[in-house]
Amino acid sequence: MAIMTDRENGVISLQTRRTTYQMKVDQFGVLLHTYYGGRIGSDDMSYQICTLDRGMSGNPYEAGKTRRDYSLDVLPQEYSCWGTGDYRPSALKVRNADGSRAVELRVVDYRVEEGKYTLPGLPAVYAEEREAQSLFVRLADRYTGVEVELQYGVLPELDVITRAAKITNRGGCAVVLEKAASLCIDWQFERYDWITFHGRHCMERIPTRQALRHGVQSVGSTRGGSSHNYNPFTILCEPSATETAGACCGFSFLYSGDFLMEAEVDQVDQTRLVCGIHPDSFAWTLEPGESFQTPEVLFTYTDGGLGQLSRTLHRVIREHVCRGEWAHKRRPVLINNWEATYFDFTGDKLVQIAREAASLGVELFVMDDGWFGKRDDDNSGLGDWFPNEKKLGCTLRELGERINAAGMKFGIWVEPEAVSEDSDLYRAHPDWVVQIPGRRPCLARNQLILDFSRREVQEYIIERVSAILSSAPISYVKWDFNRSISDNFTHSLDPRHQGEFSHRYVLGLYRVLETLTQTFPHVLFEGCSAGGGRFDAGMLYYTPQIWCSDNTDAINRLDIQYGTSFGYPISTVGAHVSAVPNHQTGCSAPLSARGCAAMAGTFGFELDVTKLTSAEKEEIRGQIATFREHYDLIQNGDYYRLAAPGEGCAVWEFAARDGGEALVQAVFTRVEGNPVPFHVHLQGLRAEGRYRVGVTDPDPVQGSKISKLWFPRECVVSGAALERGGLTLPLPRREYQVWQVRLTLCGEDGQ
Ligand code: GLA
Repeated sequence: MAIMTDRENGVISLQTRRTTYQMKVDQFGVLLHTYYGGRIGSDDMSYQICTLDRGMSGNPYEAGKTRRDYSLDVLPQEYSCWGTGDYRPSALKVRNADGSRAVELRVVDYRVEEGKYTLPGLPAVYAEEREAQSLFVRLADRYTGVEVELQYGVLPELDVITRAAKITNRGGCAVVLEKAASLCIDWQFERYDWITFHGRHCMERIPTRQALRHGVQSVGSTRGGSSHNYNPFTILCEPSATETAGACCGFSFLYSGDFLMEAEVDQVDQTRLVCGIHPDSFAWTLEPGESFQTPEVLFTYTDGGLGQLSRTLHRVIREHVCRGEWAHKRRPVLINNWEATYFDFTGDKLVQIAREAASLGVELFVMDDGWFGKRDDDNSGLGDWFPNEKKLGCTLRELGERINAAGMKFGIWVEPEAVSEDSDLYRAHPDWVVQIPGRRPCLARNQLILDFSRREVQEYIIERVSAILSSAPISYVKWDFNRSISDNFTHSLDPRHQGEFSHRYVLGLYRVLETLTQTFPHVLFEGCSAGGGRFDAGMLYYTPQIWCSDNTDAINRLDIQYGTSFGYPISTVGAHVSAVPNHQTGCSAPLSARGCAAMAGTFGFELDVTKLTSAEKEEIRGQIATFREHYDLIQNGDYYRLAAPGEGCAVWEFAARDGGEALVQAVFTRVEGNPVPFHVHLQGLRAEGRYRVGVTDPDPVQGSKISKLWFPRECVVSGAALERGGLTLPLPRREYQVWQVRLTLCGEDGQ
């Protein structure tokens, strides 16, 4: 049983295969958090709590007369409240009808159900009924009637737990939620490092690791999207944790809007993490009887290091977050015309690229920005979702059919959440944009945001996008979002409710995406936000892949994809081979390195293939063949980070879950004279298994010289040797040398 309740002692233990998460209803009805870590059974862990009269840390009234050592200011809790004696970051802050800001939650009851709860209108982990259990704990404030239902989902086999909260106003007066986090968790004794993922446009998800210090530290976004700048995914780990060992917890917020993750080490060295919607852009009025549902956080714990943590997260996102037929179906190798043509194309030019790409083995052609309205640059036309037949030289259907006739599927780019001032849509509906009356709005890329919090806007976009998808043979959509939201305001709400705009926008976006993905289940949707500005588990519920970055420089991509891999599976990482010199950096990595980096993702192309030499075309044919051959291993296998790009050589490995085969890819990021050999320890192999190790240089010209290397072209070694002894890579012979190492099981020791 995943959820064990001991009603006599008020102990609730969430058990997964290798972890235990425990809480306890104490004598005052406070819901304490008593443990999260490796599996321990169901002992009441509250014996660990050390109570002491901590001067200046007050006591709840019922405890105050006799228990001056009982203070919410230091007790580990499941859902802390603002204004009633806990001064650490709170999960819940309520403005009551009398203007006071206080809430005090006590447990009313709890129940367990089979299966995983769902969250209507919001992304959430899903599971078969037999794969999960859910716990609901009801807490209430005795004064105002504010009630909170804490929701927990447990997926025991995966070691994954989810949390969310539903807040209901059972009182007689309206209240305003000023903060409603999804998760609060306290550690009494652990001293953790905090790993967060920061970045900027073209350089997303760079990991930073720092020891948590006293004081509140936070990352978040108030940009309307989860942002390039901080990702809503974080790790807490013990200072000694490495890729292969050590305790670590990972928290992924299934939300694509404004978020806040706060951590504090408190006065007695305890650590708290609070995660949820960002309170700066949030104030939600609850009339009597109304409820507010927070988004969900999924999390996992392992003592097996950061690599194991990532593999669990990869699996849960791949199998329990990404949905629809494309979550598991083989995705097409695509070519996108953006970096090939930008806005400067005709239908004929696109067909030319598609034909050439088809001859290389590419399966899907994506027409990017510029095919609709008056859109020859990024200053106009957004919002006018009507094909520009003059520019295309034909209808959208005819273009799709021409692409299909070239042997390719056809896909399109859209950016439905934005609008140009110079557009028919803006002229017809100026009140549909996000703009404060009487103020000039902040522009970005010379565009405004369409107010997705409004039902009529949602309906209009659903109708328009549906009409386009039905009008032509379209099997793929790239859904873009190219600016941060500012001037938060909606014409549809009265002043009292303006604080609801940001979250209502996200709910509107989710409703539109849900409707479109359900109506067009065969269409593959790829998310995008000026590259990876909305790369989060919430979006992955609707779009099983996301364009990882507008930076297509293969060497920069190694860093970006390395950071992304901590929280997100390879199958979600949109990655393309582009031209050199690279358009973002001016650097020129060899085609072999560009192919290798893109293969550690969904694999596609974004360059004018009609301009390639025949040698380059041949190399691309080879890359596509390699990707196809290893598709299952790359997209669904276990992923191991063997060396970070900053170490001089980025090395990663895909291994079949049963250890039957593996593929190691390495790209040298630094080459020195008189080089020191680069050595890695493989993982995920069968210790007793004997593996044929085949090393190739995927550059066809240079690769032919491989037999002259000191490294044997092929040898047979045991899994134990490759893991414990390791593998020394052949020395690099040029800039950005790539090595590909295939490991094929060819027997077991002793056979
Ligand atoms: C964004 C995307 C790019 C491209 C352009 C088109 O920047 O991230 O890939 O689609 O928009 O305007």
